Amino acid sequence: MKRSIQFVLNGKATKADCRPDMTVLEWLRGEALLRGTKEGCAEGDCGACSVLLMRRNVEQQGEWLPANSCILLMGQLEGTALMTVEGLAAEAEDGHAVQRQMAENGSSQCGFCTPGIAVSLAGLLQRKEQPNEAQIHDALAGNLCRCTGYRPIVEAAQSAANSAAQIPLPTPEGPAAEIGDTDCSFYLPGTLDELLSLLADHPEATLLAGGTDIVLDVAHARARWPKTILTRHVAELRKIEASATTLTFGGAVTWEEALPHLERHWPSFATLVRRFGSTQIRSMGTIAGNLGTASPIGDGAPALLVLGAYLILAGPSGEREMPLDEFFLDYRKSALDKGEIIRAICVPLPTPDLTFRVYKVSKRYDQDISTVCGAFALKVDGETIVNARVAYGGMAAIPKRCIKAEAALEGERLDGPSLTAAKKAIEEAFSPMSDMRGSATYRSLAAANLLERFALDIDGETVEVMAL
Ligand SMILES: Cc1cc2nc3c(=O)[nH]c(=O)nc-3n(C[C@H](O)[C@H](O)[C@H](O)COP(=O)(O)OP(=O)(O)OC[C@H]3O[C@@H](n4cnc5c(N)ncnc54)[C@H](O)[C@@H]3O)c2cc1C
Ligand code: FES
Ligand code: FES
Repeated sequence: MKRSIQFVLNGKATKADCRPDMTVLEWLRGEALLRGTKEGCAEGDCGACSVLLMRRNVEQQGEWLPANSCILLMGQLEGTALMTVEGLAAEAEDGHAVQRQMAENGSSQCGFCTPGIAVSLAGLLQRKEQPNEAQIHDALAGNLCRCTGYRPIVEAAQSAANSAAQIPLPTPEGPAAEIGDTDCSFYLPGTLDELLSLLADHPEATLLAGGTDIVLDVAHARARWPKTILTRHVAELRKIEASATTLTFGGAVTWEEALPHLERHWPSFATLVRRFGSTQIRSMGTIAGNLGTASPIGDGAPALLVLGAYLILAGPSGEREMPLDEFFLDYRKSALDKGEIIRAICVPLPTPDLTFRVYKVSKRYDQDISTVCGAFALKVDGETIVNARVAYGGMAAIPKRCIKAEAALEGERLDGPSLTAAKKAIEEAFSPMSDMRGSATYRSLAAANLLERFALDIDGETVEVMAL
């Protein structure tokens, strides 16, 4: 018999004797009887279930980050701390500053959405003492509905910024290596060797990173996972390292952790990532998890493909390097062998002759899956393109480069004739599908036009970034 899940809940050391693959939302409402945390969509979209989770960042400092408890598993709480809307209310006699200001400022929304909004804003004030308006909107992008008005909520956040006290960071006992019982085991390895030997011993186990993709199986399809291996605590996977030529993200680095690095080297990539889900999703979701899904509409792949990224895969017979180009085999099928994981994602740092942009076309600006995502990287000598990379998501069963469009551009100037030839190559190379996000014709046209947008963009014309 392994042991129960131990964590700090609203400041108190807590033991939960439930299955580690139960969602935190289910446990909070059903077992802990903390029903301020609401269930709206149960798939990470609406923010009604937002909680604050204490996690160690890549610098090993603890911080409170927002998460969607509907797609967070109880096993992910082991050795950490959780703050719910009730915990916030208990922070001061008359509630947390955000709660007070929302009440005084007439910012309350419906009973489902208000708690999640308060939690998201309290989380923001932990990270930024005096957030600007853009940062407030960004923090709320994962709280979908604000029926009764956006303005009073922003004002409440601004007023609360002057009086919000920092929520103390508890010091829970470090995570146990194994929790749960024989029906449901949850493994929390601390080193890469431990992780690989667990995978070898339990090849049927679910490999779990942030869970923002795979936990939907539990939240929606009521899947039960007899064995789960969490990557989060593996020290080797929690690093971001830079050499003179390459930036390397460990296989458990989240999008939110990667964001400042992307901002520094590839601002266009950072703009895309700020539209990747919401703060709740980016704080949990990892780059490796995004690639690991081998989803045709994963937003990370097109940009990483044109930047020449490669992966370090670690498995039972050691490590191997693989260009990202070779990783996606078919719809949701990757080149990972049994027992192998993505140990790191390596991205060559930009050289002065590189021009790079990535664009996402989605129905909604924030928190939406791409209809088409196009990424472009050119190396130019004088006015001649010496190297072109063009890649798309949403256009085929896998994220894919368009070799014919690249050939149409190389050796040419980026002008009318080369653009026409490359756009024709894009339309001929892909046969996208029609679905609720867009018809095949729309996707083909949008993909080709994104190349033109890139050309206009780098020519100095201002192209408004808009959700189409
Ligand atoms: C509301 C919502 C919004 C979203 N918005 C976007 C979006 O805008 N753009 C987008 O691209 N995606 C989006 N996603 C999908 C998801 O958030 C991302 O794909 C995320 O990067 C997944 O990372 P994760 O750590 O949560 O992966 P998990 O769900 O933990 O795992 C996903 C898969 O990757 C595998 N895996 C994890 N780590 C490794 C590793 N180190 N090596 C090998 N395999 C591994 C897992 O076994 C699993 O098969 C969204 C999801 C939700 C719920
Ligand atoms: S219930 Fe909607 S995000 Fe969790
Ligand atoms: S449904 Fe709750 S504020 Fe709109």
